[in-house]
Amino acid sequence: MLRLFESWGLITNEAGRLTATAASARYLSGKSPDSVASYIATMKYKSSVRELYEVLRDGGANTWHVWRGVTKSWDALMQTDEFADLNTRGMEERGQVFAPHLATLLDCTDESSIIDVGGGSGVYSAYLLMRYPALTATILERPPVDQLARRCLTERKLYPDRARVIAGDMFVDPLPRDASLHLYSHVLHNWGSDKVRLS
Ligand SMILES: C[S@@+](CC[C@H](N)C(=O)[O-])C[C@H]1O[C@@H](n2cnc3c(N)ncnc32)[C@H](O)[C@@H]1O
Repeated sequence: MLRLFESWGLITNEAGRLTATAASARYLSGKSPDSVASYIATMKYKSSVRELYEVLRDGGANTWHVWRGVTKSWDALMQTDEFADLNTRGMEERGQVFAPHLATLLDCTDESSIIDVGGGSGVYSAYLLMRYPALTATILERPPVDQLARRCLTERKLYPDRARVIAGDMFVDPLPRDASLHLYSHVLHNWGSDKVRLS
């Protein structure tokens, strides 16, 4: 929440010292004549805000509430072809924005191989491979996303020579032991800490 408030310009965080900005003092302080605090307070009765509140109270697990037909589990939907395809396309599109920056910021000079756990289309590994020609990658994904990853990496001419794709479950199957770099991108936020420790 603090990061969110910071990005909204409501607080500043200088070495852990949190300070309300002029905007939040003006609009959110009950003492200010311009306060909209009562208006904001009504939001807590909205179902979407309630859901966020419950997630925070639960310790951050189950952050993806979905509703499609009779299915309410994101995890279950991701194992169906149509949703997995749509979601993986979405991850790929977002990755095309972020992955070039990862490849610029993450120094892989001394790395030999990546294991990209829950790697989706493999877009983050792909950009790292494009920047570091000696690097290889393994994408671990559950079916049917593993097939989508193979397709995307083939289009990028990285599969099968520099990238391989393993179908598996990160909570159950042993990870390949030869990787020097373990990449978890937008993966661990879906579960609580007990389950995350398992991966
Ligand atoms: C939010 S997506 C992130 C994909 C990619 N890492 C990215 O950042 O674009 C989470 C991915 O984790 C995969 N995943 C979820 N549970 C998994 C499991 N138990 N084992 C392996 N992959 C899993 C999903 O199939 C999905 O592609």
